[in-house]
Amino acid sequence: LGESAGAITRAHWNSVYGSKQPDQVSWFRPHLDASLEYLRTSGIERSAAVVDVGGGASTFVDDLLNAGYGDVTVLDVSDEALRVVRDRLGERAQRVKWVRTDVTELTMPSGAFQFWHDRAVFHFLLQPHARERYVAALRRTLASRGYALIATFGPDGPEKCSGLDVRRYDADALEAELGDGFKRVANSTEVHITPWGTPQQFVYALFRRKEPRR
Ligand SMILES: C[S@@+](CC[C@H](N)C(=O)[O-])C[C@H]1O[C@@H](n2cnc3c(N)ncnc32)[C@H](O)[C@@H]1O
Repeated sequence: LGESAGAITRAHWNSVYGSKQPDQVSWFRPHLDASLEYLRTSGIERSAAVVDVGGGASTFVDDLLNAGYGDVTVLDVSDEALRVVRDRLGERAQRVKWVRTDVTELTMPSGAFQFWHDRAVFHFLLQPHARERYVAALRRTLASRGYALIATFGPDGPEKCSGLDVRRYDADALEAELGDGFKRVANSTEVHITPWGTPQQFVYALFRRKEPRR
């Protein structure tokens, strides 16, 4: 069952990126300004390992490279999405690590990342076990004192994204999902305007991984 659910997810997203221009999807923004601002204010080094989880075709990776971040991973369940961004980046794509996987099945080494970025991915996880696996992957791969920025539709946001049902969160609910081991350091809401002018409420929350107990 797990495998077939994964195959359906992948087929959905491959068909989205195979049929729509990157700027013709509801979640498109020319730049992920709020995410970039959180990254800057976290103060992590330019050499720190940053992962864009479900990066899709967004320009976050372009902006990271432009800002001099040297250890960038883009992860997505859709090979089509990764292809679109790789093509756009051309030569510069070689400076990025590309990981085609479902985040709930992520097998990366422990402490691999210092900054985890997820905009509009966690909210698709409807099954408790899928959210548990996401949080387990985050716990394992985020280094001690690393940051996780998670953005989802907010309580007043839409009930669907890309035609799929979503769960909506406020910052407290996101914090509760992550459980012990994370400290919330900031949060905000954003009214995102889709390319066709519809407002959508997003909630952003920045968490810091606590030091392991001695
Ligand atoms: C709504 S889009 C957001 C894209 C990008 N983060 C942005 O803000 O523009 C959701 C993205 O997450 C990817 N995705 C959805 N479910 C996923 C999963 N379980 N594991 C990894 N990626 C997933 C999709 O392929 C898609 O690129």
